[in-house]
Amino acid sequence: MNHAQQPPITHNTCFIHAYAKINLTLDVLGRRTDGYHELLTVMQTIDLHDTLCLTTSDDNTVHITCNTPNLDNEQNLAVRAAQLIRQHFAITQGIHIELYKRIPLAAGLGGGSSDAAAVLLALQQWWQLPLTASDLNDMAAALGSDVPFFLSGGLALCEGRGERVTPLAQYWPPSMRWLLLLKPTISVSTASVFGTLTSDAYTDGSASHTVTAALQAGGMPPTDSLHNSLERSVLQCYPEVAQARHDLLKAGASLIRLSGSGPTLFAPLAELATALQVQQQLQAKGHEVYITRPIAHTRTISLF
Ligand code: C5P
Repeated sequence: MNHAQQPPITHNTCFIHAYAKINLTLDVLGRRTDGYHELLTVMQTIDLHDTLCLTTSDDNTVHITCNTPNLDNEQNLAVRAAQLIRQHFAITQGIHIELYKRIPLAAGLGGGSSDAAAVLLALQQWWQLPLTASDLNDMAAALGSDVPFFLSGGLALCEGRGERVTPLAQYWPPSMRWLLLLKPTISVSTASVFGTLTSDAYTDGSASHTVTAALQAGGMPPTDSLHNSLERSVLQCYPEVAQARHDLLKAGASLIRLSGSGPTLFAPLAELATALQVQQQLQAKGHEVYITRPIAHTRTISLF
């Protein structure tokens, strides 16, 4: 049989990377009547990622196995994403999801949301589903406020409860080339951070607009515009985060911000050598530290 006569290949395995994010800014504009908060936030995907492997099964169920205890259940956002797609198209084929987590949980890095977006995109491509960008965005928003961002990733300005995403031209200042992340040992619930927020933390969104304008002009934003409305409250309520910030400062980082609702702090640094020095000092104190970089999103879905 020559090449042209070969039967079509039936793929049975799909691998996908699901990247984490940081919030360069997070302006909370106010509380909405639906209980959510109106946001303006500039987000960037980073190269810390989970790996998902999807295989089909004939048992009409979605099943998950995961390297992290307590995540292999039907509440997992990756499972809920697969169920949403199957229900939408009345698909009876089952899916087995293997999830290798590297992104810390409940950390402000969007790991669960990214896994969910990865499953939506992978199944759309794998099953060649007729979903428009707007259909996908609606499905993603139904799963969580951060999920739509991960459909495109890269650098974006997100509005509403976070689900209205405007992708931005990818620019990243050289002085922020490396992103050192410190994940305090505690986990923080996004709902409780928003729940305890008082109106004095609300802003008019000018920090996010300033950062967007600076990056789109190819410049470094003023450091005081890298604002996170949740940071002060998280530092006050969680002494572990305040201690982590103190240790980061002592180790030589000068610009330090909370990512999302935390507890992860990030410190942008220009040189890898500096990042390694800071990492070494923090690890000697027992901290969980990652050195990452921004990633302009080109999602890799590998079908075998
Ligand atoms: O949308 P998601 O399920 O990720 O949000 C988790 C919780 O965080 C919400 O139930 C809500 O309490 C809070 N939240 C908010 N405003 C947002 C996003 C999240 O108050 N824009």
